[in-house]
Parts: sequence; structure tokens; C-alpha cells
Amino acid sequence: MKTYGLVLAAGKGTRMKTDIAKCMFPILDEPIIEHVVDRLEKSEYVDEIIVVVGHKKESFYDYLKDRVKYAVQENQKGTADAVSSTKDILKGKEGFTLIVPGDVPLMTPELTDQIMKYHIESKNDLTVCTMEVDNPFGYGRIIKDKNNNILKIVEQKHLNKEEELINEVNTAIFVVDNKVLFEKLDLIKPNNVNGEYYLTDLVELLNIEYQVRTFLIDDHWQTLGINDIVQANVVEEYLIDKINKKHMLEGVIINSPKTVRINKDVKIEAGVTIKQNTIIQGISVIKEGSTIGPNTTLVNAIVNNNVKIEDSVVKNSVVNDDSYIGPFAHIRDNTVIGINTRVGNYVEIKNSTIGNDIFISHHAYVGDTIMGDRVNFGCGSITVNFDGVNKHKTIIGEDVFIGCNVNLIAPIKLASKSFIAAGSTVTQDVKTGDLVIARSKEVVKEGYYNKYFEKKK
Ligand code: UD1
Ligand code: CA
Repeated sequence: MKTYGLVLAAGKGTRMKTDIAKCMFPILDEPIIEHVVDRLEKSEYVDEIIVVVGHKKESFYDYLKDRVKYAVQENQKGTADAVSSTKDILKGKEGFTLIVPGDVPLMTPELTDQIMKYHIESKNDLTVCTMEVDNPFGYGRIIKDKNNNILKIVEQKHLNKEEELINEVNTAIFVVDNKVLFEKLDLIKPNNVNGEYYLTDLVELLNIEYQVRTFLIDDHWQTLGINDIVQANVVEEYLIDKINKKHMLEGVIINSPKTVRINKDVKIEAGVTIKQNTIIQGISVIKEGSTIGPNTTLVNAIVNNNVKIEDSVVKNSVVNDDSYIGPFAHIRDNTVIGINTRVGNYVEIKNSTIGNDIFISHHAYVGDTIMGDRVNFGCGSITVNFDGVNKHKTIIGEDVFIGCNVNLIAPIKLASKSFIAAGSTVTQDVKTGDLVIARSKEVVKEGYYNKYFEKKK
């Protein structure tokens, strides 16, 4: 039978007091909804994911694209109303629906699978996931009979004195038979205090003829919801720590882990060292023997073996074996750095393929370039790739020597074993074996210094 993962993310998140939709608020540099959807994608049981959006819905479309189906809840009239907005997609379908709040980002795929397994094996019609907390304030309370069967859920606002003391609370994670869900959903009445439709009322409605059971979750971190920025920070710190510890236990050396932020999808091999103040994002991969940091940012970077990158930024690029980047280098978008290549301080490289055994050691800009092996790209030299309207290519062969302060006006080709003298502005292609020197002739005026200053007196 099919399982639908239904994420409720239409709410504004008033308590966040920020302009963005709550579920788009970043946790470890990725929106809360990314964490929720990613974990559902990784669950063995979930076949299809539907996200209910409303407030700032375009931001969800932009981010999640076609990874999920969308249902739109125009006015946020409560969690039951949010589920109703998926009628067109889900009503009448055979299967299970796993309902999760879009503001609970730490639930693991393993826990999701456990919940689904329990629901299926117990032949429940509705499973309500609960937790026991010391301070239940704010949560819906689980009301049970003498035999420990759930009777109903009462929200904080509507509790009587006795119910206030109950510390088993609703996590807002449910599994329900999909047909049964839509059979009863329309019977939920708006709450007479605030007019909201509470999904939690489903418990009382189903209890009469169906099997409703609770599933107690022990690990409270996994069900922690985010309602304000302080809670967002608590969740983020927990996640940073969890990810760093996982890497360290697998043989990654992390210096000062409290200063290191590694995103959930980053892969790091044993024998890598990560130094302090380093941020690694996206789907970066770092191979054995490499050292990253201090003060380095990698975004979608593939770093092969025995590479050293310090005080630098590498984005959407590849660095091959034994190369050394930094300090203060910026390698961005669609660049491949070859083997045993040196990219030193104040060097920016963009959209370029750089060969092996190359020196670009200081103060240089290389853009839209293909560079062959063993090139020396001198200090202060640049590719002039932009004419004010279009970008142009620079092609450099093997064993080319480019002196200091050279401007290569693209489009341009420097053949292998060519030589560009320092200070040259080169506008034409250069052939193999040739030297180009393009600078004004040096003039020497003997004794000029004294003559000049005597005249001034
Ligand atoms: C909810 C539960 C409460 C539970 C708590 C656990 C209800 C009525 N209450 O309260 O029992 O203890 O979670 O964290 O379900 N949403 C919509 N549309 C709406 C309203 C909400 O999509 O009209 C979404 C929100 O974006 C959010 C999620 O549903 O992601 C939960 O809503 P929230 O307002 O945070 O509910 P809680 O007050 O936390
Ligand atoms: Ca909440």
C-alpha cells in the first residue's frame, strides 16, 4: 500500500517575527522545510510527498521545485483545514497518510520508519505520536481512559485545571488510513473559541468506530518544533553538534568543532582534517588526506585527496589531488583545478579548467579560461574576459610562461611553450616558441634626479 507524506507548512509563523514563511527559516543554512522533506525522501515507507503551502507559497515553489506535490491553503484556518486542502490529490486514495508539521526538522528517517511499522503492524486506523515532557505548556495534551486508551487531544487554550497537569503531549505527527481520514475530515467543526479547525479533533471522531492508538517517542529532539528564533537556534546547535560528532566518530579530525558548520549532505572521508571557523555546505565531498581551513567556506565543492585549502572560498568547483589553495583565494562556479597545482593569495578563478603542476601563486584573475599543464601565471596577471557586453574565452596551452602584470585580452589563444613578458597587454594569439613583449620602451635619463630638483628650488 502506498504511503503519502503530508507536510503542513502553510502557516505564517507569527511567533518568528520575521518576514519569511516559518518553514523557510534557515537551520544550518538550509530552510526548515528542506530538513523535513529530505528526511521523508529518505524514509523507506514514504512514496509521495505533498506539502501544504499558503503564506509566501512562491518561496516554497522556488526552493523545492518538483521534488514534492503542492496543495494550497489560501487562508490558514487551522491544521484540519490544511489537510482538507489536499482533497484533490488524496481523497479516495488507498493507503496511509503520514502527517507531519512543517516546523519539526529533526525527525530521522529511521524514526519515521518505526512509526510506520508500528501503525501497520498494529493495524491501527489512526496512530497519534506522543511524547512525555517536563514542561507541557503550549502543547496539545493527550487525554486517556483508565485502560490507557486515547480519548481525545485538548489544546493548551482549552485545558481545565486537571488536564493542565498531563505531561504526555501531541507531537502533531500522525499516521492515518487515507480513506478514513477524508471520510471524517469534513465532520471537524470550527473551534468555538477561535474558529480554527483542529486536526487533533480527529481522535474523538475516529474513536467511535475505528482503532486509534498512541506511539510514544522517547527522543524529544526528534519531535522538537520551531515556533520562534530561540527554538530555531536550539535546533540548529543540536544539529551542528550531531553532524560534527558523526564525522569525528568516522575518523574526521575537527578542530574546535563548535566553530565548524557542516551541512547534512556533505561527505567527508576518514583522515580529513577540518580546522576552525570552517563552513561546508551543499553536496560537498572531501577525500582522505585533505585539510580544510581554518576560515574556509566550501559550497558544492569536490575536494580530492591530499588537498590543502586555507582561508579561502571554493564554490561549485573541483580541486584535484595534491593541490594547495590559499590563503585568501576565491574559486567560484564551474572551475576545475588540476593535480599538484598552486593557487595562492588574492587569486580569483571562475568558470575555468586549470591543468596540473601550475603556479597561479599571487594576485591574479582567471575567468572563462582553459589552461594546460605546467603554466606559470605570474603575479598581478589577469584574463580580460569581459568587454562590457560579452564574456570571452582565453585558451592557454602547456608549458606557457606568463610573466607578472600581464593582461590577456580575450578571446585569445596562447599556444604551448610560448612566453609573455611581464607588463604586456596581449591582444593577438601567440604561436608556439614565440615571445611577446608589449610594453613601452624603457627610457633612461642620466642624472635627471638632481637636475629636476635643483630646477624646482
Ligand atoms: C500543534 C498541535 C498541538 C501539538 C503541537 C506540537 C494542532 C491544533 N495543534 O500546535 O496539539 O502539541 O503542534 O508541536 O494541530 N499549519 C498550516 N495551516 C494552518 C495552521 C497550521 O499549514 O492553518 C501548519 C504550520 O505551518 C505548522 C504546523 O501546521 O508547520 C503546526 O502549526 P502550529 O501553529 O505551529 O501548531 P502548534 O501551536 O505548534
Ligand atoms: Ca508548532
